[in-house]
Amino acid sequence: MSKLFYLESSPRKDRSASIQVAQAFIGAFQDADPKNEVKTLDLWDFKLPEFDGNHINAKYKVLHGENPTNEEAKAWDEISKIVDLFKDADSYLFSIPMWNFSIPYKLKHFIDVITQPGLTFNFYPETGYEGLVTGKPITVIYARGGEYSSVETATMDFQKTYMELLLGFIGFQDIKTILVEPTLTDSDSKEQTISGSKDQAIVFAKHL
Ligand SMILES: Cc1cc2nc3c(=O)[nH]c(=O)nc-3n(C[C@H](O)[C@H](O)[C@H](O)COP(=O)(O)O)c2cc1C
Repeated sequence: MSKLFYLESSPRKDRSASIQVAQAFIGAFQDADPKNEVKTLDLWDFKLPEFDGNHINAKYKVLHGENPTNEEAKAWDEISKIVDLFKDADSYLFSIPMWNFSIPYKLKHFIDVITQPGLTFNFYPETGYEGLVTGKPITVIYARGGEYSSVETATMDFQKTYMELLLGFIGFQDIKTILVEPTLTDSDSKEQTISGSKDQAIVFAKHL
């Protein structure tokens, strides 16, 4: 039995290429062992706290080993609960559409909430930063309207490059990638692209 945390970040539901590929992954994961569990967090149906002054003050107080005020402690508690939810898994699956060469704002909000000292990373003056979400594999599905795999276009990709930096920062080392591109084509080509990515997703899920 294994627990998969699935983060969905496209609002397009059954019209979403990244979600279709994620569903193939999840199907294969569940077929591999009927006791396998999937915890889905749909970012378009989940209330994240505003990451406001109290949350930021709490973050810096934790970072500097200072005592938070009551309001800050409450804000920190809110964050800790979401991080606990996130960390309670054996493996991860993220499905991400490219929006304006990067990620949807809902995903950035989630990242700003969970990337916290003492919870997902530590900082030591002598040795620097250390990620705390370790020893767990993650598969990331990136859907894009265009193609960003060539040398000429790769520099415009702030979606995969950003996610890999961030995931590495919080501790992930085993990061698998599934590209779904280009999706803004005629429907036959799009179906073919999605189908190729689904095949790859099934292989990855079987070898988790
Ligand atoms: C707000 C928005 C911004 C987008 N920006 C880009 C972009 O910068 N580059 C690109 O190749 N496609 C872009 N697209 C197209 C999506 O990346 C493409 O439709 C992809 O399939 C979305 O993933 P999904 O089908 O899982 O929702 C954008 C789409 C939307 C809705």
